[in-house]
Amino acid sequence: MSEVVSIGKVPWSDADIRESFAEFKALYAKRPIEDNASGMRAPHAFGTWFMLRALQPDLIVESGVWRGQGTWLIEHACPEAELICLDIDFGPLSYRAPRAEYREEDFQIVDFSDRDLGNALCFFDDHQDALMRLQQMRWKGFRRAIFEDNYPKHHGDCYSLKKMWGGHGLQPPEPARQGWLSRLSGDAEAPKPGIAPNLTHRAELMAQLATYYEFPPLFRTETTRWGDVWSDAEFPTKDPILGPDVEDDLRAEAKFYTWMCLVALR
Ligand SMILES: C[S@@+](CC[C@H](N)C(=O)[O-])C[C@H]1O[C@@H](n2cnc3c(N)ncnc32)[C@H](O)[C@@H]1O
Repeated sequence: MSEVVSIGKVPWSDADIRESFAEFKALYAKRPIEDNASGMRAPHAFGTWFMLRALQPDLIVESGVWRGQGTWLIEHACPEAELICLDIDFGPLSYRAPRAEYREEDFQIVDFSDRDLGNALCFFDDHQDALMRLQQMRWKGFRRAIFEDNYPKHHGDCYSLKKMWGGHGLQPPEPARQGWLSRLSGDAEAPKPGIAPNLTHRAELMAQLATYYEFPPLFRTETTRWGDVWSDAEFPTKDPILGPDVEDDLRAEAKFYTWMCLVALR
């Protein structure tokens, strides 16, 4: 069964993406955190900046801030937007956006009922299950989101849209490798339940989503970050923005691509 990499339309082309790469590089060279270990690197930093700049939401809720590099990119892409930054632990924060509101809370318990969400967007980089986040978004009145942790089958710690499209379910990682998924419960040792392989969630995504758009990778390498052969059969992927012969210093960050996606609910 084929996996889905696009539903609906986005207001840009691959040529637009390619043309804006030089502008992104000039900005990325000024990033506040040079080595954003455990956070976004060039392929997703570019996707975040590019998509937000094109969409211009007037409210952005960033869930999963880490040291703050994503916040900095969001600010540059959308200088007029209101910004709410959520994390369950702001201890590692090193870049703080002057005009953002910081709340050490999970998205599910934040009350957005007094806000106009008509042109809002959620940016999830918090390693939580995408199915749960989509349901919470619907409940609260959000229509659009970017999911950064869109891991393919058998990889990553959360239930991603990419896993749902493939019907793979979620094999829970061993407790030692559960990372941020386990931190919401506050009990790092508690085993996390898995999700059985199923096609129910794929059908529900088809019914619920007006847009699903995987941002293309900047580069493609022979193997993924986990060492698997990066074939289209195993890891359906759009063509890279830069071909194999293009030399670029950011190629060193190529393997940090995890199929980040934009979604809009119907
Ligand atoms: C991969 S990091 C985010 C990286 C960041 N977007 C960047 O590019 O620099 C994941 C973050 O999610 C946070 N996190 C974990 N569970 C969370 C939750 N339930 N709500 C919000 N943030 C959460 C972690 O504390 C961590 O800071």
